[in-house]
Amino acid sequence: MTKKLIEWTDNLSIDNGLIDKQHQKLIELINNLYDAFLAGKANDHLSEIIEELATYTVSHFKTEETFFDKVNYPEIEDHKKEHSNFVEKVVVFKTKLASCEVSLSYDIMNFLRDWLKTHILVTDRKYIPFLSPEILLQ
Ligand SMILES: [Fe+2]
Ligand SMILES: [Fe+2]
Repeated sequence: MTKKLIEWTDNLSIDNGLIDKQHQKLIELINNLYDAFLAGKANDHLSEIIEELATYTVSHFKTEETFFDKVNYPEIEDHKKEHSNFVEKVVVFKTKLASCEVSLSYDIMNFLRDWLKTHILVTDRKYIPFLSPEILLQ
């Protein structure tokens, strides 16, 4: 069994069940992509996984941004910008991969891993004080 690119560890928790579950799913999708990359899967197969990753990422970002609106989160603009920059990069990469202009590499895999971990550990962490049990995230 190959080693996972990202392991879920408790320090990634932001103490909210729904958000933690979504972050775990994102980690799983990046790990799936890594497995397919190591197995030498074809670009069309890899871009299908990236498509799934992009779709899930967009829906996760929507959950966070809906919550930001509800609590008038002060850092909403900067946070949304990080989200949209990431989605744009992933979508551009997926398109290039599908047309074989680029190939998946360790650099890209490391970028995905580092972006997600840093975003959770630094940027998402900042909204923890705004989470309360009454706020139903959806
Ligand atoms: Fe976020
Ligand atoms: Fe997040």
